[in-house]
Amino acid sequence: MKERFRVSGGARLQGVVKVDGAKNSVLKLMAAALLAEGTTTLNNCPEILDVPLMQKVLEGLGCEVQLDGPTVRITTPKKISGNADFEAVRQFRASVAVLGPLTARCGKATVALPGGDAIGSRPLDMHQSGLEKMGATTRIHHGAVVAEAEQLHGAKIKLDFPSVGATENILTAAVLAEGTTILDNAAREPEITDLCEMLIAMGAKIEGAGTSTLVIEGQKELHPTEHNVVGDRIVAGTWAYAAAMTRGEVTVGGIAPRHLHLALEKLKLAGADVETYDNGFRVRMDKRPEAVDYQTLPFPGFPTDLQPMAIGIAAIAQGTSVITENVFESRFRFVDEMQRLGADCSIDGHHVAIRGKETLSSTDVWSSDIRAGAGLVLAGLVAEGETNVHDVYHIDRGYPQFVEKLRSLGADIERVAD
Ligand code: UD1
Repeated sequence: MKERFRVSGGARLQGVVKVDGAKNSVLKLMAAALLAEGTTTLNNCPEILDVPLMQKVLEGLGCEVQLDGPTVRITTPKKISGNADFEAVRQFRASVAVLGPLTARCGKATVALPGGDAIGSRPLDMHQSGLEKMGATTRIHHGAVVAEAEQLHGAKIKLDFPSVGATENILTAAVLAEGTTILDNAAREPEITDLCEMLIAMGAKIEGAGTSTLVIEGQKELHPTEHNVVGDRIVAGTWAYAAAMTRGEVTVGGIAPRHLHLALEKLKLAGADVETYDNGFRVRMDKRPEAVDYQTLPFPGFPTDLQPMAIGIAAIAQGTSVITENVFESRFRFVDEMQRLGADCSIDGHHVAIRGKETLSSTDVWSSDIRAGAGLVLAGLVAEGETNVHDVYHIDRGYPQFVEKLRSLGADIERVAD
């Protein structure tokens, strides 16, 4: 059933909200459970659509998966299938995270090329060349990536770009390879550090977690563990920008503020009052935001997944902001929808200049990916009148109880059948 969110603008968001574990971590941790025979338990999991999708992927490979609210238990048998070429895999990007574990454990892995968000071409060349350096042969065959290796061996690998997905697949293959792998220019996102921490608890030997050089000494086997998923910095950042855009005051728990350092610094530049705690922060804004420029970059840069929120705040700011997208080439599709809401934007290559306006004006808009969908809801919160955000299944893939949480902060929003 198709659904939309009906949002009425004007409310000032106020209150306390807690974020769950990160979508971009839990799915990779679930895939990493393939590396060890036995039952792996993940706590603090978000209840989002992608988790049952990953459940289907793992079940298709022979695992038993139990979803119990925020706890996910995965029981991996001694022998798993290396063939992930089925419908569930094609439905979301993160399914490609099974490639590393399957290549390491099965000798031959076939993983259907993922679908997912319409944000850019998203090739797998760095995933493939990393595995090839470790002794695998890889090819794209009938819409799937196929990797084969009798026994992976350690290697020196330098990524052209600190790709999150390639870092994860190389890491989860290297933990079971023979010898030492040195991965340079690795991604440093907190979700990678979370994965390293879980792998270390499973018996992996990894040095340099959280830095751009990972040194991985392969082990003969790993054992299952219990792990708490790191808080979702993108969801937390969405709340921070929602608070600032609505001139509200929101306290966000369940997140290390250092994981959002630059995003919160930018809000301060826009005029917000930001206070940080051990495991959370508070954002308060009592005036129209000032224009601020943004450049998306790999962590610790400003996250591309918060780019729609940066555009949202720029659209109502005093002055002109320039936002530069350096990670995904198609992410400015979101700008077309913002223009429907009256935002004054001009795109030039991977830059968009936004002349801020006092207010936006409501209309019907369509989500093209998870973060664009959430960004449109934020814009709806500050638009005059009633905005309808369509295709909300995108938002449901990444934001647990989004409508309920927004309502608890005072937003006028409801989910209705389309
Ligand atoms: C992950 C996140 C996504 C986030 C992104 C960047 C998940 C499920 N998704 O995506 O939300 O926006 O990190 O923080 O965790 N690239 C290549 N060749 C490759 C791999 C990547 O050219 O082999 C390019 C991509 O097209 C893109 C850039 O590198 O332009 C970054 O991609 P990457 O960091 O790999 O992002 P994902 O892991 O796909």
